[in-house]
Amino acid sequence: MNTELPALKKVIIPVAGLGTRLLPISKSIPKEMVPVVDRPLIQHVVEEALAAGLNEVILVTRGGKSAIEDHFDCHYELESELEKKGKTALLKALRDIAPAELKITSVRQGRALGLGHAIHCAAHLLQPNEPFAVILPDVLVKPAVGDDSLIDLAVMAKASQERQAAQIMVEEVPLERVDQYGIVNCGGVELQPGATAPMLSVVEKPAPADAPSRLSVIGRYILPGEIMALLAETPPGAGGEIQLTDAIAELIRRGGVVEAYRMHGRTFDCGYVQGWLQANMQLGKEAGLLE
Ligand code: G1P
Repeated sequence: MNTELPALKKVIIPVAGLGTRLLPISKSIPKEMVPVVDRPLIQHVVEEALAAGLNEVILVTRGGKSAIEDHFDCHYELESELEKKGKTALLKALRDIAPAELKITSVRQGRALGLGHAIHCAAHLLQPNEPFAVILPDVLVKPAVGDDSLIDLAVMAKASQERQAAQIMVEEVPLERVDQYGIVNCGGVELQPGATAPMLSVVEKPAPADAPSRLSVIGRYILPGEIMALLAETPPGAGGEIQLTDAIAELIRRGGVVEAYRMHGRTFDCGYVQGWLQANMQLGKEAGLLE
């Protein structure tokens, strides 16, 4: 019997959120379409996925957010107009949005029942036991300054395949903010940037007094296909929502190998106005567009 697992190629990107933390900006445009420097947020994360070798993108979306799919579609009139006018640089930038290897599929999340539910909406698009990545697009993950070639998600993808272990990207947060994240328990191990450690458990949005560490889940995951079956059985948890964190905790309880990977790069949380502005200021300066 061939027991080889399908290759890691797919990444699920949940984009069905209402974007309430970015209102009024996000009233009639999807929050994933807000610009960060010269391109929409979603384009940054799709570029991150491609850089990690993940070229099959599954968007879990909802009504009113079709601008996201349109962004990756061929815009024939625009392309022929730019071609006619000889605007080759712009034409290239436009075509680079969706290189030939990028395959985008979308599926709808009919009801907002939580992140775990959103991920499970894509279950039928995976082969049996097919591993997959998840990117939460509110948070941009960029390489550390001067270290452009180190793509954290690519490191995780490689590690997951070499060791057949799930990978969860983490970063340290101040104790007073642990109640906003999934928090991992690695048995008190001091994790240096770029290092991994086996996870003993993970808990969604604990009170500071109950937090097993200050290592928070950043929104980049490489997961085994089996997690889909666990998600199907996961009851609502924190905030009354079906939590991906709870399914990961169950995977660990059932003997699954899950590792926490402490990111090397930098995060920019673009899911709220101040964080989004900061990302534009910082990355705009680095791109040489701002003083
Ligand atoms: C989600 C996850 C949480 C993770 C966070 C990262 O929470 O449930 O585990 O730490 O994303 O941004 P949300 O921000 O959707 O409440």
